[in-house]
Amino acid sequence: MTADIPPIDRAKFVAAKHAVGYIEDGMRVGLGSGSTAAWMVRCLGGMVREDGINVTGVATSTRTAKLARQLGIPIRTLDEVQWLDLTIDGADEYDADLNLIKGGGGALLREKIVATASDQMVMIADPAKHVDVLGGCPLPVEVIPFGWQTTQALIEEMLANQDVMGCSISLRLNVNKPFCTDEGNYILDLHLRRIGDPRQLSLELNQIPGVVEHGLFLDMCDVGVIGSADGTVKVRNIRNGTIEQEQVRIIDTDNLFLDIVN
Ligand code: 5RP
Repeated sequence: MTADIPPIDRAKFVAAKHAVGYIEDGMRVGLGSGSTAAWMVRCLGGMVREDGINVTGVATSTRTAKLARQLGIPIRTLDEVQWLDLTIDGADEYDADLNLIKGGGGALLREKIVATASDQMVMIADPAKHVDVLGGCPLPVEVIPFGWQTTQALIEEMLANQDVMGCSISLRLNVNKPFCTDEGNYILDLHLRRIGDPRQLSLELNQIPGVVEHGLFLDMCDVGVIGSADGTVKVRNIRNGTIEQEQVRIIDTDNLFLDIVN
């Protein structure tokens, strides 16, 4: 089965497999969303079922919560748990300082709340997500449905004074209806191509009333785990400035596919 996994999924699996090594017995763990985070949930499910590790998970999306429960990981709400030891999540883009763009899957609001309520955030990704300057992928902004077009106009006006290369905005759709987040909000995707000053943009977005949150995760991530299809993993710790390289053994992953085939 391992040989059948496409290289991109092997890379995601390798990052996820290494990252679950940070999880210790008794920890409260934030579970990210997206395809890379789903690998992490599968790996953690294996640790719960096979090694008997005792963890409490807080999911960043209904989709992740469903997968985690299917795999036997106990899930609680953030209000029940209050604070987390660790969050492991994916990203759409990361730069050299581990500043991120997130929200490709539309879960950025819960992801940011959960990451902020964690002692440590570990980002898992493949090398293709690395950029010199953020902004190559659209920046998702979660907005309240009420008056969303006015909110979009206010964002457009604000962007005219930002250090960005593009300024078109699209409402994210699900087939032909607005995509709705787990909180019932809409997503505006900002096609900026290059974000010269992410901090300034973050500040100004947060000042627009209809904006709930945006996908810039600045100074939040502590460790970046970058997996490659050959099993190599690069671990960048932004707090102590270290970069380490290790090898993950790609064992037979049949059991990790149980949730997919069932
Ligand atoms: C979801 C996210 C994801 O972490 C991000 O989109 C990366 O997803 P994937 O691992 O599938 O590439 O932010 O809101």
